[in-house]
Amino acid sequence: MGFASALGWDNGVVLAPMGADIAGPKLVAAVANAGGLGLLASPVNMYDTTLKVIRDTKKLTSKPFGAGILLEFEQSATTIRAIFDEKLACMQVFWGDYTKEMVDEAHKNGVKILHQVGSVAAAEKAVAAGVDCIIAQGVEAGGHVIGNVSVIALVPRIVDLVGDRNITVVAAGSISDPRGFVAALALGAKGICMGTRFIASKESYANDYYKQQLLHYTEADTDYTDLYSRASWVAPTRVLNTPFHQKWKPVPQDVSNNEDQPIVGYSIIFGGSFIEGAEKIIKELGGRSQVKPVKAVVLLKSTEGVSGTIYFTQEGDAPTKVTGTVTGLKPGLHGFHIHALGDTTNGCMSTGPHFNPAGKDHGAPSDETRHAGDLGNLVVGADGKVDLNISDKQIPLTGPNSIIGRAVVVHADPDDLGKGGHELSKTTGNAGARIACGVIGLQAT
Ligand SMILES: Cc1cc2nc3c(=O)[nH]c(=O)nc-3n(C[C@H](O)[C@H](O)[C@H](O)COP(=O)(O)O)c2cc1C
Ligand SMILES: [Zn+2]
Repeated sequence: MGFASALGWDNGVVLAPMGADIAGPKLVAAVANAGGLGLLASPVNMYDTTLKVIRDTKKLTSKPFGAGILLEFEQSATTIRAIFDEKLACMQVFWGDYTKEMVDEAHKNGVKILHQVGSVAAAEKAVAAGVDCIIAQGVEAGGHVIGNVSVIALVPRIVDLVGDRNITVVAAGSISDPRGFVAALALGAKGICMGTRFIASKESYANDYYKQQLLHYTEADTDYTDLYSRASWVAPTRVLNTPFHQKWKPVPQDVSNNEDQPIVGYSIIFGGSFIEGAEKIIKELGGRSQVKPVKAVVLLKSTEGVSGTIYFTQEGDAPTKVTGTVTGLKPGLHGFHIHALGDTTNGCMSTGPHFNPAGKDHGAPSDETRHAGDLGNLVVGADGKVDLNISDKQIPLTGPNSIIGRAVVVHADPDDLGKGGHELSKTTGNAGARIACGVIGLQAT
C-alpha cells in the first residue's frame, strides 16, 4: 500500500515537527499546500498556544496537517486535547510509549497516529498499539535522537516487522535529496520524514543566521551529545558542531546548568522569517541545487571597440555558469581569462596575472594543471560576435577563491592553452594584448 492510499497525502514527504517552533504555521501550511504532510511542533503544556498555532495554520491552508507531541512531558496531555479539539488529521508522537488505549482514543477523534521510534523493540510496541504510521528514526537524524541504529539498518527491520499490516513506514534521518528518498523507498519505506533540510526553507521559523550556517556545514560537521538538555530532559541530540559547541563540549557530564553565564541570545517563538520555499523543496527534493543562486555581472570596457556584458551564476557549490555576449572582436580565437585583481586604474594592465590561487601553470579549462582563471578562448564568428555558455568549477562566486571583485580580460590573440611552446605559454598562453576587461560585481538575485 502506498503512502497516499494509507495516510491520505499526495506524496511521501513528511515535515518533522521541529521544536521549539521551527515547524510553525507557515512551514506546515507550505508543506501541506505542496502535497506533503506537515507536522506542527506543538508547544508542551500550552493548550491555548497550541490552539492558536493550529488555527493560524488553518488560515494558511485548507489541506490536512498534523502536529507532534513529545510524550516525555506529562503535560503534553493538554496539547493532545487541543489537537483532538481542533480535529487535526494526524498526530506524531515521540519519546515514550503510546498505548493501544491512547491510539483508540485518537482514532475516535479522527486523528491518525504516527509514532517516531528508534528501535525494533519500540516499533513492536507501536505495532501492538495499532498506530497508523511508524517513523523509523536513524541515529543520523538531527535534533533529539532516540535510538542508536542507522536508518539503513533500521528501516528494513521495521518494514519486515510491519509485514502486510496497514501501517505506513517512513524513514527519518539525514535524508535531504531525491537519492535519499529513493534509497528509503528501496529499503521498503513508503515515505521520508525530513527535518534539517526544511530548516533552511523560507517558511521555517529558524533564524536567518542558522539557515545560512546550515548551508556551509557538511555531513562531517555534526555531533551527538547530551550537552543541551541535561537540565530539563536527558536526551541525546545531534547538533551542528559549531565553535560554540566545541567550546562547551568539554564541560563535565555532571554539569547540567551554569547560571553564571550570560544569556547569549533570545529566540522568538512562532515568528521568524526565509531561503527557499518548502514547495520547491518538495517538488524537486534537490539538496545542493536548492540553495539560492549567487549572481554576478561584468560590463566589458575597451578602447578597441569591444563591448559586452557577461553574467555569472552559481547555485550552491555547483560549477559557475558563464553566459552573455561579446561583440566587436576580430573573428577567430581570443584568450579569455579571469585575472587576479579588480584594479582597472591603469585599464586592463593593472588587473594582475591570471587568477591562480593554487599556484599552478597556465593551461586549458579542461586541464588538471591550469590557473583557476583559465577559461580558454572565445570563439568569435564572422560577425565579430560570441555568445558565451561556459560552466566551470574553478571560478566560484563564494568562499575564499571567489572571483567577485576580480577582472575578466579578453585578449587580442588566441590562448595556446599552455601548449604552444612559447616562453609565455605556461603563464599567459601567449594570448597577446588585453583588449577588453571589466570587474566582476555582485548582482541582485
Ligand atoms: C532542530 C530540530 C528540532 C527537532 N525537534 C523535534 C521535536 O520537537 N519533536 C520531534 O518529534 N522531532 C524533532 N526533531 C527530529 C525529527 O523528528 C526528525 O527525526 C529528524 O529531523 C530527521 O532527521 P534530519 O534532520 O536529518 O532530516 C527535530 C529535529 C531538528 C533538526
Ligand atoms: Zn592562465
